[in-house]
Formats: sequence, C-alpha cells, structure tokens
Amino acid sequence: MAASSSGTQELIQELDGLAAAFGQEAEPLATEQEIRAAQARFLGKKGRVSELMKALGRLPASDRPAAGEAANRAKASIESVVAARLAALADAALAADLARQVDVTLPGRGRPLGSLHPLTSVRREVEEIFLGLGFEVRTGPWIETEWHNFDALNTPADHPARDMQDTFFVEGGRILRSHTSPVQVRTMLAGPPPIKIIAPGNVFRRDDDATHTPMFPQVEGLYVDRHVSFADLKGTLLHFVRRFFGGALEIRLRPSFFPFTEPSAEVDAGCFACGGTGTRAPAAGKASPSPSDGVGRSTELEGCRLCKGSGWIEIGGSGMVHPNVFRAVGYDPAEVSGFAFGMGLSRMAMLKYGVEDLRAFYDNDLRFLRQFP
Ligand code: PHE
Repeated sequence: MAASSSGTQELIQELDGLAAAFGQEAEPLATEQEIRAAQARFLGKKGRVSELMKALGRLPASDRPAAGEAANRAKASIESVVAARLAALADAALAADLARQVDVTLPGRGRPLGSLHPLTSVRREVEEIFLGLGFEVRTGPWIETEWHNFDALNTPADHPARDMQDTFFVEGGRILRSHTSPVQVRTMLAGPPPIKIIAPGNVFRRDDDATHTPMFPQVEGLYVDRHVSFADLKGTLLHFVRRFFGGALEIRLRPSFFPFTEPSAEVDAGCFACGGTGTRAPAAGKASPSPSDGVGRSTELEGCRLCKGSGWIEIGGSGMVHPNVFRAVGYDPAEVSGFAFGMGLSRMAMLKYGVEDLRAFYDNDLRFLRQFP
C-alpha cells in the first residue's frame, strides 16, 4: 500500500466511499423495487462502481491488486447492505401481517342472487301442471297471417269478433298475433289427432291501461281426440285451478261466446283470497278489524277485495272446438271432438301475487321484482 501512487490511493478511497454512500442512499428506501434500483445504480454495468473500475486499467500494474481488492470490498459491502435491507423489509411485512386483527366471527359477504321474473315463474308453474296431465308445450310465430289468427278460427274478415281483439298490422299484410290460438291451428295442420298441447306465449292487442298492456303472455290449451267431452274440459280446468291457486276451490263455467268454440264458456275460479266466500278475511294479528274505512263506509259490507265480494274470479275463456275450425285444418268434425281454453298469464300472476297494476310486470323496477325471490 505504501508503495502505491497517489492516484491509486484516491481510487481506493473513492471505492470505500461508495460503500458508505450506498448505505446512506438505501437507508430510507421502503420497497424491494427501490432497493434493487439503487443497487443497479451502484453495481450495474453503468453503475458507479463499474465507472471507477475503468480507471483500474490505467494504474501501474503493481497497484492493481490493492485497487481490485477495494473494488471487491465495495461490491461485497453493497450486496450485504441490500441483503440486510431486504431481510428487514420481509420481517416488517410478516410482523404487520401477524399484528392484523382478523375477526373470524364477522358474517361473510353475500353475493346478490338473481331470480326468475314473476311472469316466467308463473308460466313455468302452469306448464308443469299441464305437462303432468300429458299436455305438450308448443310455440309459434308472433307475426302471423290473418288466416292462422282469424280465418281458420272461424272468424272471417267481416266478423264482429275481430273487433274484440284490436289487432296490430305489420308490413306485408301480416299481423301481430292477438292470441296463441294460431298455434293450435298450426299444430293441427302439422299432423293428425290425438293432439294435447298448451301454447304459452306473448300476444298483442291495442290496449293500454292498469289491467291491459299492448303485449301480454297467454297460455292456451287444446285437446283433440275421439269422444273428448265438455266434462273433460271441466275436469282439466278444475285440476288446474286447484293445483295453481290451491286447496279445494271450485270452478264455474259461464255461458259465453267465442267464434272458434261452441258451446263457449268463461272460466271462473273460486276466489282463493276469501276461499270463495266473498267476505273479507279478518286481518291476521289485529284484535278487532276496524268497522269503517274512515270515510263512513263499512268495509265489512264491501267484502273480499280480490273478487269484489262475488266469491269468483274470472281466469279465462274456454269451449268445445267449433266444427268449422276442424274443417279448416282438414279434420273431420264427425270423427273427432276437442276442447280449448285460454288464460292470461299476467292476470294469473296479478291474482296470485295480489299485484294491482299489471304494468308493474313490465317496468322492470328492481324494487318490485325483488319481492318475488
Ligand atoms: N283465444 C281466446 C282469447 O284470446 C281465448 C280462448 C281460447 C277462448 C280457447 C276459448 C277457447 O280471447
């Protein structure tokens, strides 16, 4: 050492100084990334140690070993500082982890569950009931010909019954189907009896108020075979009503008119809200029901709100298939007979869930829909 030149002495001092400088620079760094970057500034190819090493070559040969040693010292010192700092960081992270309080008794974070739209679940429920009776589910197009929707159903162009179902016309002389009865026509055209189908699906009429929407889901049924009778119709509807609305409810068939059935009947189900009594059930949990609604009228006299005191609610239309319908699809009315019925699915959902405005089913307001989990 004593023999080395002053240039060599200076270089050695600078190298020793670098190790100290690195220690200071690394001191405040708090992440591995920052520490590695500092390490590269000193030991990397263009780092400060490498820059000094270039001067090594210009030293007298006898001085090089001492200078080389100093360079190695500097490198080793920097590397040990890096290792020590990284170890300290890992220790600190582990300590922070262990110090964290985890409350294992907290309830888990639930994920919100989706659910079926009430109209979908009502449709599926209706389908299940009829599938259990051996009916098949058939569907058909929304855009129909007037022939399938009306003519084949014994409803010629000048027939006043066309006004009963105010129809939407689309381009090309077609219409939006006003009921799913054309599915019955299509099914009969496609093959011979026996036929036992239900046809659920959307239908369209020019209507829009609290109890009518321009589009609504319907389900119609058709059973055609030899010797199908009105008693079969009544038994089928009775079974359906008891399964869908529950209990031992009765049904009532009121004489009516549809062009495609003869005889025809409106179908009433015993009101499931009052059990068919027409009287208002005393509100559960109330000691004594209030005798007046606050404006002087007796609420007792008004009776059940759902059936308006009659004990019955209308759920659809029905009847024995008209011979002209059979003729239109090539069936022989002397050979086969059949019954048909049709019900509004949204009306069924309204009744079942006590919804007063039909339009709520189509607004897709989640506050409404979440009530049907
Ligand atoms: N198609 C009728 C309607 O939509 C319902 C119905 C179907 C009536 C079958 C009788 C028989 O109004």
